[in-house]
Amino acid sequence: METLKVDISKIFEFVPEADVFDLSQKAIDSAKALENKSGKGNDFLGWVNLPSAISDAELKDFENTAALISKKVDAVVVIGIGGSYLGTRAVAEALSHSFLHLKKERQHPVILYAGQNMGEDYLTELIEILDTLKYAIVVISKSGTTTEPAIAFRILKNHLEKKVGKAAAKDLIIAITDARKGALRVTATNEGYKTYVIPDDVGGRYSVLTPVGLVPLAIGGFDIRGLVKGAMDMEKICSSATPFAKNPACIYAAARNMLYRSGKKIEILANYENKFHYLAEWWKQLYGESEGKKNRGIFPASVDFSADLHSMGQYIQQGERHLIETVVSVKEVNSKLLIPKEKEDLDGLNYIAGMHVDAVNKKAELGTMLAHVDGNVPNIRIEIPKLNEYYLGQLMYFFEKACGISGYLMGVNPFDQPGVEDYKNNMFALLEKPGYEKQTKAIQDKLKQ
Ligand code: PA5
Repeated sequence: METLKVDISKIFEFVPEADVFDLSQKAIDSAKALENKSGKGNDFLGWVNLPSAISDAELKDFENTAALISKKVDAVVVIGIGGSYLGTRAVAEALSHSFLHLKKERQHPVILYAGQNMGEDYLTELIEILDTLKYAIVVISKSGTTTEPAIAFRILKNHLEKKVGKAAAKDLIIAITDARKGALRVTATNEGYKTYVIPDDVGGRYSVLTPVGLVPLAIGGFDIRGLVKGAMDMEKICSSATPFAKNPACIYAAARNMLYRSGKKIEILANYENKFHYLAEWWKQLYGESEGKKNRGIFPASVDFSADLHSMGQYIQQGERHLIETVVSVKEVNSKLLIPKEKEDLDGLNYIAGMHVDAVNKKAELGTMLAHVDGNVPNIRIEIPKLNEYYLGQLMYFFEKACGISGYLMGVNPFDQPGVEDYKNNMFALLEKPGYEKQTKAIQDKLKQ
């Protein structure tokens, strides 16, 4: 079986190869600390061996639940934010037909999303569509108290109950949350929903291989066994037992840390396959929330090429030189489409007639890489053989393991997110939430200044 490949050869004119290799022992030690659960944040390391720990019975249970729900509905609304929805969306968007919503015949329920924003128009428009569809809800919140998904759930639960009746709605709602704590657990118990547990030792952004990702993806018709198998193979390959030179997670973590130390503060994840847009959103949360603390951390950004070559391309080529470009590339695409020849070559494209569109796309990738490296943007290239569940499983586990290692190399705890609380405290103070009286007074005084 082929595996994901990481090529860092295009960073060596910016940081010497020897410097990257100087980090090899620390990277392997960090991988070991993750596996032994001896590093920072060690109560959140359940994700490290999740792929090999998932049992066949668990997967079967997810598949059975999915089969039952799928029979009843045209759509499933995944309600969640951050790590409670981005993994699902990353996989679903990468592997779905680009025009799925316009396809007349669909084999599986289409996945819709709520709770990731508080746009009143968004929710209103979603309800308009749900009025016309049979739908189920998968509500996901580890804490069970996050405001955005809680608001969306309250609204959609009411909508569904009105639409099909309380008794039928109960069987169309699945809650995925903490085993004991949180308002969602209380609601689920009181209402009698089917529930799944998010393990205590797995944080949101590392949870795609728990029920958080696997249940909605199974409902959407994705091959969750392929995803888990890919992750499991990567778990072995990225383990501390694999020497540095053959260990993609250690290589990527060491490379980006050396570049960061040399002044490259922003990493752009670039794709030439726009189905990866949400994979980049997932990656941004993973790296941004894991590393951005203690006034440190590479700022994770993303671009969809070719579209962004005609917008952000200018900045990447000639703007401030603080960028790293990491390209995620797919070796072999799933379709075949040739550029036709025309008698009158009015658009001047006959010189590439007969070529696959992807072959031209790959030349754009190569040409861009050479141009950006010439423009002093170091390039890291990550290639997966094909776009399917198995290789996405490899890719996502690789990024998770590399993120843990990279955070340790950076000297931060990659498994907490204390900074996320600050906006929440202000929002609760402004909303005059009971218990926030002191903060409400302080923020109102501040606004008067
Ligand atoms: O990575 C994380 O832990 C966070 O981004 C959470 O996923 C996000 O804040 C949602 O939290 P919850 O699942 O508790 O609603």
